Amino acid sequence: MTKIFDFTKNINENELKEAAKSIKDGNLVIFPTETVYGIGANALNSKAVDNIFVAKGRANDNPLIVHISDFYMLDNLVQNISDIERKLMDAFMPGPFTLILKKREIIPDNVSANLDTVGIRMPNNKIAHDLIETSGVPIAAPSANLSSKPSGTKIDDIKDEFLNKVDIIIDGGDSFVGLESTVVKVIDNIPTILRPGKITPEDITEIIGSCKLSNNLFTKADGIVESPGMKYKHYAPNNKCILVYSDSNNLLLELIKENIIDNTLIIGSVENKDKFNCKYLSYGSKVNLDEISHNIFSLLREADRYNPDLIIIEGVKKEGLGIAIMNRLIRASSYNYIEK
Ligand code: TXA
Ligand code: MG
Repeated sequence: MTKIFDFTKNINENELKEAAKSIKDGNLVIFPTETVYGIGANALNSKAVDNIFVAKGRANDNPLIVHISDFYMLDNLVQNISDIERKLMDAFMPGPFTLILKKREIIPDNVSANLDTVGIRMPNNKIAHDLIETSGVPIAAPSANLSSKPSGTKIDDIKDEFLNKVDIIIDGGDSFVGLESTVVKVIDNIPTILRPGKITPEDITEIIGSCKLSNNLFTKADGIVESPGMKYKHYAPNNKCILVYSDSNNLLLELIKENIIDNTLIIGSVENKDKFNCKYLSYGSKVNLDEISHNIFSLLREADRYNPDLIIIEGVKKEGLGIAIMNRLIRASSYNYIEK
């Protein structure tokens, strides 16, 4: 039986200790971070880590991120940190940021899917921080969702998928950012974004003076990819889904109208809410990308519950946080993307 700990108002110290012990004992604990919820296990215990892959139904060639509470944990896990990597960590940790570093032997092979690197993240969330610190071990954690479902950002969605599959679920309220961390690897001295997120290319350029986007952020990845996660179908609703975008709102409205069929559900901006004769879920204002990022994954799940024949999603401009939003939405729509 899964225990649910409610830390939405405050952290209960006894329950925190129990959750930390559960991690140490090799069990799975779902915990909040500022990006999305994570399904965590002791990163140094390969048997515990195996259970993450089972609970999620995750392919075992897709590596996990290792979460630390403070920098003192780092030297035991990774090696040969360059100046650029240090600068990135100083600037963006703790925060919605993951850095791929050369791993040490102590990281089990299943955590890193046999790569010689490991993703390191220091969440900026008090519950996550205290859980890692109290357990005294780094925590390997992918997003808390069944493989091919949107990442879990709301406790009810998480309970639906993981009740009685994990030892403890810690409720920390809705995830603040709502999209997973920016994943960066320094390649030939240039920070390269493998997965876009709340930390944008502009943020990174400001610190390092350069930043590249990986090739496969908006297209389907084939063959060798920089990050195994790019290969997998992600965040897909059960129903057919089209993503549309135009800089001109008039063209955008036309595009949506052209594609509507019977039983279409639209996910889009509050500005366009009353323009159509279909079920409409608003993700917030066009001009507030933080709000859209916060809402989008739970809306994809909600859309599915209506069982429409078609979901049309209004896209956003691929700029700043919009890059991350569009990266997720293009995948959700299985690359059915129309731009005018
Ligand atoms: O915000 C987040 O990052 C959340 C929270 C829980 O921290 N975690 C998360 O983990 O999104 P996950 O496992 O769902 O996504 C990890 C991504 C995958 O796309 C994976 O392929 C990539 O990071 N990744 C992990 N280790 C890697 C490595 N060594 N080299 C390249 N990519 C890596
Ligand atoms: Mg994930």
